[in-house]
Parts: sequence; structure tokens; C-alpha cells
Amino acid sequence: LSKMLEFLFVLLLAAESSCMFLNWTCDQSCVCHGDLKFTTCSHDDLTQLPVKVPPSTELLDLSNNLISVVQKHVFSSNRKLRVLLLQNNNISLVEDGGFAQLEFLQKLDLSWNRISVLTEGFSVGLAFLRELQLSHNQLTGLDSRSFLHLDGLQRLNLTNNSIQSMEVRSFSSMSSLRQLHLQDNQLTSLLSGTFSMLRSLEVLNLAGNQIHEMELLVFNPLTSMTLLNLADNQLSTVCFKTFLSIHTYSTHILLQGNPWNCDCELQRVFRKLRSIQRIFLDDYYNLTCREPPVLHNHRLMEVDTELCIAETVTVLIITITVVITVLAAMLMGERKKKKRRKGFSPVLPGGGGQASCLTK
Ligand SMILES: *[C@@H]1O[C@H](CO)[C@@H](O)[C@H](O)[C@H]1NC(C)=O
Ligand SMILES: *[C@@H]1O[C@H](CO)[C@@H](O)[C@H](O)[C@H]1NC(C)=O
Ligand SMILES: *[C@@H]1O[C@H](CO)[C@@H](O)[C@H](O)[C@H]1NC(C)=O
Ligand SMILES: *[C@@H]1O[C@H](CO)[C@@H](O)[C@H](O)[C@H]1NC(C)=O
Ligand SMILES: *[C@@H]1O[C@H](CO)[C@@H](O)[C@H](O)[C@H]1NC(C)=O
Repeated sequence: LSKMLEFLFVLLLAAESSCMFLNWTCDQSCVCHGDLKFTTCSHDDLTQLPVKVPPSTELLDLSNNLISVVQKHVFSSNRKLRVLLLQNNNISLVEDGGFAQLEFLQKLDLSWNRISVLTEGFSVGLAFLRELQLSHNQLTGLDSRSFLHLDGLQRLNLTNNSIQSMEVRSFSSMSSLRQLHLQDNQLTSLLSGTFSMLRSLEVLNLAGNQIHEMELLVFNPLTSMTLLNLADNQLSTVCFKTFLSIHTYSTHILLQGNPWNCDCELQRVFRKLRSIQRIFLDDYYNLTCREPPVLHNHRLMEVDTELCIAETVTVLIITITVVITVLAAMLMGERKKKKRRKGFSPVLPGGGGQASCLTK
């Protein structure tokens, strides 16, 4: 009998513990559903991790809280996570290895936080991450360590940070990246090589920066790019070769909202660009001139020929004047037979835009 009682007791204990396990105390501040695959701890003023999250959770929503630090290994009992939402918190620090255990994680949303630095330890273990949202943080620069372990990333959103500089090797490990959103940052120049490893890149959004110079081969080779957005920057001129070096079947390029210097050189560049079959200047009709002063606020399309006809006429007049002067001088010299004629070559106006094309 005692044996049977003992057996029953054990059974009871087992039942209780399994029940407790089933009940896997979804944290008070969270809601768990879908066979404990979804855990939502949102809008709850949580200031700290960890919360008790069922190990079976695949989607964990911790958005709209006041979490400020992601500690090392804090998600170590949640290895099944596929989606982790941490947007709209107060996160300023992700400790090295903060996400290291999340080998199945596909989407990580850290937008609307206060992250200013990405260390190498940030991306450790995230080799299968496909989407990383980091918009509306306080990043000021990117370097070769920022995204080092994100080999499988397809979409990276860095919209509205304060990024001023990007080391040439910042994106060098991301051969799967398809979309790179860098709009509304503080970039001023683009260096050759920055994007050269991104052979899968389809969308490159650089709108709303302060870009005023681009190295000649910055978009070389980028064989998959279908959309390049450079609207609302500080470009006054571009080089033909910069866009010619994009080797795709078709690429749409947006350029409005820049202070174009509509000299004859720029007009020539655009005339040539528009004749290339695989390049589509979708907002060409919206491009407006900042310089020269006479063309201020005019559309590039409208001034297309007038200025350069005028310039050609000017050049012609100057040339003719010079030729006449030279002829006259020769004639005079011939007549007086005193001085030898000095040869000089006339300096023609126009073509100043070429100087700002960086060659490297
Ligand atoms: C689960 O836990 C809650 C309290 O945390 C309790 O009220 C409830 O009865 C438990 N459910 C089961 C099935 O044990
Ligand atoms: C956010 O974190 C900073 C420290 O990093 C702290 O000073 C501030 O009070 C926090 N804000 C909220 C709303 O908790
Ligand atoms: C990037 O982030 C911005 C701001 O949070 C958002 O509006 C936009 O939809 C995001 N874009 C993509 C492609 O994820
Ligand atoms: C980007 O963030 C700044 C504040 O950091 C804000 O002033 C600006 O309006 C934001 N831009 C966009 C497009 O959301
Ligand atoms: C050109 O500008 C107009 C007015 O700002 C806008 O409605 C239109 O969408 C722009 N066109 C393109 C191709 O962006």
C-alpha cells in the first residue's frame, strides 16, 4: 500500500510540475497565445529585461516600453525566436553578444531607440537575420565592424540617424543585401568601394542627406540595382561616368531637390544620360537650377538649349574676335616687319563643371 501511495504521490508531483510547465507562467506584464508561440509585452512600461518568456515563443513583441539596456545573453532561453520587436524603447546600449543565441532570428526591430554605436558584438550570432530595422536612432558613423556578422541580411533600414561617415568596408560582408535605406542622415560624400560588395542590392536610398560629391566609380559595379534615390541632397553637378558605371538592365534614378548648376557641361551630361536605354531619370522634369543666377529656380528641362546656344554664340564671337585680332596683328607685323608674332591660344568659357567630378 505504501508503495502504491508513494507511486501516486510521485504521479501527483509529476502532474503538478507538468501543469506548471504547461502554464509556463507567461509573465504578468505579457500576453501569450498561439500555443505560446506569440508573446506580447507591449505598452507596459517595462524598464528591464528579462521578462519570463515561454521558451517556445517565436515572436516576441517588447515594443513601446522603456527598456534601456539589452544585456549579454538575456535571450538565452528563447532560442526559437524568429521575430524580435524592440522598437520604441529607450535602448542606448546593446552589450556584446546581446543577441548571440538567436540563431533562428529573421527580423529584429530596434527602430526609435537611442543607439549610437554598433560594436562587433552586436551582430554576433545573427548570421540568419534577414531584416534589421535601426531607423530613428543616434548612429553617427558606420565602420567595418558595425554589421560584421550579418551575412544573410536582405533589408537594412538606417533611416533618420545622424550618420556622417561610412568606412569603405562598412557593408563588405553583406552580399545578400537587397535594400539599403540611408535616407535622412548627414552624409556629405560617397567614396568608391563603399557599396562594391553589395552584388544583390536592388534599392539604394540616399535621399535627404547632404551629399555634394561622389567619387567616380561609387556605384560600380552594383549589377542588381533597380532604384537609386539621390533626391534632396546638395549635388550641383554629376559626372556622366558615375551613372554609366551602373551595370544593370534597368535602373531608375531620382535626383530632384538638388541645387543643380545648370551650366552647359551639366546639360551635356543629362543629354547623354537620357540617351542611355537602361537608365531612367524618373524625375528629370522636376530638376531645378540653383546656378547660374540667371537660371535660378528654372527647370533644367526648360533651359535645356537656350543657355548653351547663347554660350555657343558667345564662344563664336570671342573666337572670331580673337582670330581677327591675331590676323590683324599678323598683318601689322607683316607690314612693319619689326616684331615677331607671339602665338597664343584663346581661353573659351564653359566646361567648368568637370572640375568637381572627383576622379579616383
Ligand atoms: C496558471 O497560473 C495562474 C496564475 O499564474 C493560475 O491562476 C492558473 O490557475 C494556472 N493554470 C493552470 C492550468 O494551472
Ligand atoms: C532613458 O535612458 C536614459 C539613460 O540612458 C535616462 O536618463 C532616461 O531617464 C530614460 N528615459 C526614460 C523615459 O526612462
Ligand atoms: C524604414 O524606416 C522608416 C522609419 O521607421 C519606415 O517609415 C520605413 O517604412 C522603413 N522602410 C523599410 C523598407 O523597412
Ligand atoms: C528625423 O529626426 C529628426 C530628429 O532627430 C527630426 O527633426 C526630423 O524631422 C526627422 N525626419 C524625418 C523625415 O522623420
Ligand atoms: C514632380 O514634382 C511634383 C510636384 O512636386 C510631384 O507631384 C511629382 O510626383 C514629381 N515627380 C516625380 C517623378 O517625382
